[in-house]
Amino acid sequence: MGMKYKDKSYTVEERVDDLIGRMTLEEKIGQMMQISFISVSTEEAEEWITRRCAGSFLHALGDDAKRLQEIAMNTRLGIPLLFGIDAVRGHALHNGATIFPTQLGMACTWNPELVKKAGRVTAKEVAADGLHWTFSPILCLGRDLRWGRINETFGEDPHLTGVLAASIIQGYQGDSLSDPDSILACAKHYIAYGEGTGGRDAYDSQISMRKVREVFLPPFRKAVEAGCATFMSSYQSIDGTPVTANKRALRGLLKEELGYDGFVVTDWNNAGSLISNQHVAGDMETAAKKTIEAGNDMIMNTNEFYEAALRLVRNGIVPEELIDDAVRRILRIKFKLGLFDGRANSATVAGAYPGSGSAAHNAVGQDGSIIGCKEHLDTALEITRQSIVLLENRNNTLPLSGTEKKIAVIGPNADDIQSHFGDWTFLSHPEPKPDEAPILPVYTILSGIREFAEERGISTVYHKGCDIMDVEDEDISGAVECAADSDVVVAVVGDCLRQNGEYKDRADLSLSGSQQKLLETLKKCGKPLIVVLVSSKPLAMPWAAENADALLAAFNPGMFGGRAVAEIIFGEVNPCGKLPISFPYHSGQLPVYYNQLPGWHGGRYMDMPGRPLYSFGYGLSYNCYEYSGLRLSQTTCTADDTVTVYVDVTNAGPYDGMETVQLYVKDVISSVVTPVRQLKGFVKTEIRSGETKTVEFTLPVSELYIIDENEKQVVEPGEFEILVGPDSRPESLLKAVLTVL
Ligand code: NOJ
Repeated sequence: MGMKYKDKSYTVEERVDDLIGRMTLEEKIGQMMQISFISVSTEEAEEWITRRCAGSFLHALGDDAKRLQEIAMNTRLGIPLLFGIDAVRGHALHNGATIFPTQLGMACTWNPELVKKAGRVTAKEVAADGLHWTFSPILCLGRDLRWGRINETFGEDPHLTGVLAASIIQGYQGDSLSDPDSILACAKHYIAYGEGTGGRDAYDSQISMRKVREVFLPPFRKAVEAGCATFMSSYQSIDGTPVTANKRALRGLLKEELGYDGFVVTDWNNAGSLISNQHVAGDMETAAKKTIEAGNDMIMNTNEFYEAALRLVRNGIVPEELIDDAVRRILRIKFKLGLFDGRANSATVAGAYPGSGSAAHNAVGQDGSIIGCKEHLDTALEITRQSIVLLENRNNTLPLSGTEKKIAVIGPNADDIQSHFGDWTFLSHPEPKPDEAPILPVYTILSGIREFAEERGISTVYHKGCDIMDVEDEDISGAVECAADSDVVVAVVGDCLRQNGEYKDRADLSLSGSQQKLLETLKKCGKPLIVVLVSSKPLAMPWAAENADALLAAFNPGMFGGRAVAEIIFGEVNPCGKLPISFPYHSGQLPVYYNQLPGWHGGRYMDMPGRPLYSFGYGLSYNCYEYSGLRLSQTTCTADDTVTVYVDVTNAGPYDGMETVQLYVKDVISSVVTPVRQLKGFVKTEIRSGETKTVEFTLPVSELYIIDENEKQVVEPGEFEILVGPDSRPESLLKAVLTVL
């Protein structure tokens, strides 16, 4: 009799049933195991496949993945492996792939279409490398800027994060998972990771489940709705319960309440951390029991889980049905991906892509190939352009007039590729490799400005001035000499890899090392001072905000960062990025996210302004946009209605440009305290110089919900302020009132 599970004419469910029916308990638990390729020897890796039927590997690339897959295909049941990789900003761990700005940079575009395109490009490059799954997007909210992983977020706001999440997931997963260039997305880190006490990575999130539902769930809900195939459970605990062991959050909220039918992978050694870090289990059996019961399906890099889980089922402590449920979820995805129907045999999709070669590593960077091809690089350039945020432009310092003779480019990040790249690229993982040469061209701010200056017959000089961290390593007088002899100074400051990423939380967000001194001394030269921030996140830099003639933020902009900044400085591109996250004056002022709850005493410190240095949604262009005529299709409604909101936006400047029009809502009176305003919609649109555009928002009244004291989602009757404008600051917003009956 033929093997039903190998026959495409049966449904996925029929095939899964058939295969599970043939599997031993050992094989089932094996499928739940995800092995870290870089943490085991070659022999161990092979044994995990041949002796224990491991389900997945992470961090195996190209030819290694291909070899492991061949071994898996020759096992008793021939269940293909799933290969996962942290391709969180392009397939960036692979030297030669297209590298996008970090998620934080991408979020500055406020452009869901472009973000979706970035997802598509990533999927094609990851799939061309024979891999199936990216651990992306990150849906944690960047609300405490001290946290080392702010760069990985789409910023501080649940709505913006949710919209961009859905877009990038659609990009990764394509029209159908069975398409050879679709890969699995992974919504991580579920849930409320990033809210660790004091901005400390993986510390307890001291919040209630009501708060989880109100603030942290919305982007993950959007991920479920977008069909995100996998979720990753986070490291930290919530109010003392580790998420790994949190049945209420995983099995209850995610799987039962939201009806999520994909699978949940733990983060790195979460199961082991229940013992070693969180101390809620004294041995692996207890840890494995908690991990399974809570609703984790695949176990990342806790290899001792395997034997412990076997004992738990054999001894009747954990019912085999729970194992079956986990394995069913994993196999379902493997079938949907087409792994049983040829995709795994080819290991790369070379056949589907002319010129990509048989081993994906040969497919690097030539036109016509997949990885790093011209079309992909063009997408990266466009997204990088839109990711740059203009924060100050006093007296129209920018764009440059073109009459300059000499430009001084100064600063520790002016020509530092690693700082332009930031985290999760081949230069940062598995360990920092400052000397590895990128295969594809990279524009630093210096090389970008140089290229543009040369074309215009302008000369440039460069001086590093100081180090990002090491105060011994400074030559400020050398830098000042260069500056004094130039017509304009571009000072590039920021942070570095040592201050960015896991284990890199910062208590002090001011400019480190001698950077502040460098800026202040440069200012004294009396030349126009353009400050470019190349960093992983907002820093506390009130002096620069007040004293720079122009200030630009480029959050780890990747390979085209310098080119995009040069295009803006020389006026070839009108900047349109807006902040997805607020800047503080001072670290002690944190948190400064815009959607705070109203405070009794004004919510401010006596020694600090009551507002952020730069607010969420803020960003300048070379134009000015005028907002008028805010109106609603109806001013009273029921909770089932959908209201249309209109506003007229005039481009009153000399350039064509793109403006992101933002819609916020304030619940005037509610049964629980609600934020001072919350983003509920945004439209990014092109407006030509002199043109007035009517921008339209569709606002389902159901979006005006609160989570009440019983954790129920309800729309309460009453008045809501509908606020529309260019950013989240109250003085920027037009107001209309909507009454819910
Ligand atoms: C730990 C990180 O928290 C997670 O984001 C990542 O996907 C895994 N390691 C795998 O590298």
